This record gives sequence, structure tokens and C-alpha cells, in this order.
Amino acid sequence: DWSMAAYRAEMVQKIRDQVGSGKVICALSGGVDSSVAALLIHEAIGDQLSCILVDHGLMRMNEAADVVAMFREHYNLSLKLVDASDRFISQLEGEADPETKRKTIGRLFIEVFEEEAKKIGGADFLAQGTLYPDVIESVSFSGGPSVTIKSHHNVGGLPERMNMQLVEPLRELFKDEVRVLGRELGLPDSFIGRHPFPGPGLAIRCPGGITREKLDILRQADAIYLDEIRKAGLYDTIWQAFAVLLPVQTVGVMGDGRTYEFVCALRAVTSVDGMTADFYPYDMDFLGKTATRIINEVKGINRVVYDVTSKPPGTIEWE
Ligand code: XMP
Repeated sequence: DWSMAAYRAEMVQKIRDQVGSGKVICALSGGVDSSVAALLIHEAIGDQLSCILVDHGLMRMNEAADVVAMFREHYNLSLKLVDASDRFISQLEGEADPETKRKTIGRLFIEVFEEEAKKIGGADFLAQGTLYPDVIESVSFSGGPSVTIKSHHNVGGLPERMNMQLVEPLRELFKDEVRVLGRELGLPDSFIGRHPFPGPGLAIRCPGGITREKLDILRQADAIYLDEIRKAGLYDTIWQAFAVLLPVQTVGVMGDGRTYEFVCALRAVTSVDGMTADFYPYDMDFLGKTATRIINEVKGINRVVYDVTSKPPGTIEWE
């Protein structure tokens, strides 16, 4: 893609101009956005970049290990996996308010980065894969007043004391453009095609109070759901799909016993940029088969429902 090749060269130059001989620490989430940002910055400044992947205990099944393996296999950039899951989960335990969850996660991220920056003798810049739609924090539908819908943990200022500037090379791009740029930078197709995953992770797919047990249940249900989507050949058609664990228990029957377990909601949408979205019209066989597998294989779930809300009026995530 000619225009992306030109954009790549232009951004590389811009990053060099901004960073000079400074040190950059990059928050790698394992998503396409931060990965593309990291690769672009690595191309621009090489060893001046250190990438940190914070495992906040809110990732999907095997995700942290898979991401580290992909980078080690294909690239030669400095990447450190920091397991901060106990710290995040202990501070989130029991938290039910969506905005408090997002803010707590954002604050802990900053704390971890501060500590990691110190360990490498200080960093002058913090890099993030912020996209244009993330920047438009306030969304105004049908000409109505502007309202903040959700705090994005990766948008907004840094604490003064951090004394770091932001490097955000993707701030002008939409998701589809980032994917083109990722291909340009040699990211494997399987990685580029990955569904978006929010920074606050499973915390915002676990409405009601967060517990380790609920996160475990959700992680298992989500893995089965995505497995079925892949097997059905639907992964690339769907823009984003995930399971949500509802804080509601309902009565069921299994064998000859009564069960009283959680409800799992499945979400799948088509979209171009995440700003608007339509629910995905699965056939009922797919939904029935997936529900049966989740209920049979995941201890703690005895009922599955499908979310048929588009955006607007719903958001893609539940929180
Ligand atoms: P909503 O739920 O606002 O989501 O319709 C739109 C898209 O943004 C993702 N999302 C986030 N991504 N940090 C992120 O990096 C966040 O805090 C965040 N919240 C939502 C969401 O998964 C969807 O793709």
C-alpha cells in the first residue's frame, strides 16, 4: 500500500524528531494498536525503546504468553512481561462501578510503568497505541449534547510527577488503517486480524463485583466461544466477539440435580471503526451448540443468552 508506506516513513521521521536520543517505554497490550505503535517506534529508534507487557490478570486465556511468543519469534525488540495480576485483582476485588474499575486500572498501569521506567534508569517518553476514535472521548449522537460515555484508560494526561511525554504515533488513524500499517510492518496476518480487546480487559466484561472466581469462569467461557467462532469460520467476518459474565444466578437442572449458577451473555458485532456497530446475526444452530458447550464445560454457568443490541444505543462493551 503506497500511502501507508509513505505514512510509515513520515511517522518514523516524526518519532525520531520527537524522541531524539531519549528513552521510550512502551505499554504493549498485545493488541494490534500497541503492537503496531511499538514496531513503528522500534523502527525509528531501535534500542532506545523498551516494551513492557503488564499482565493485569484481566487478559484472555493464554494471552500474555502468546503475545510474548509472537514478538520473540518475529522481532528483536526489548520486551518484558510484568506479572502484576495480584496487585490489580486485589485492588479491584469487589468493585462494581464501571468508571471506578476503569480509573483504578488506569492508575495501576501508571504505577507499574513508573516502577519499570525506574528500573531501566528512567524514561523520557511513554508510548501508547492510542487511535483516533479513542481520542474522541466524548461522543455526540444525533446532534445531542456531548457526553462522556466511558473513561479510556489509555487516553488523557499523565500525572505531572511522571515527567514523561507521550508518543502516540497512531493518533490520527482508524483501526482499519492501523491494520494496513501492521501488515506493512510485517505483523503476521493472524495477529493483525485479531479482534480488538479493551485495555481494562475482562474487568469490564464482569459487571457487578469482580472476583478471581468470576474472572476464571469468564475466561473459560470466552475461550470456548472464540473456539466455536473460529471453527465455524466466522472469526474474520465478526469485528469483535466476547463473553460477559452476568452478576445474576438462575436456577437450572443438570442430571437429576438443581443448579444455581451464573448467566453468561455472548456478544458479537460487525463494525468499521467501533464507533457504531450491529449485532451479528448468528444462526440458531451455532448459538445452541455454543451455549451447550459452555454450560457443559464451564463449572459456574448454567444459562447462556445472546445480546442483540446494536451501537447505538448499546455500547460494544457492557461497561
Ligand atoms: P464501546 O464499548 O465504547 O467500545 O462501544 C468501542 C471499542 O473500544 C474498545 N474499548 C476500549 N479500548 N481501552 C481500549 O483500549 C478502553 O478503555 C476501552 N473501552 C472500550 C471496545 O472493546 C470496542 O472495541
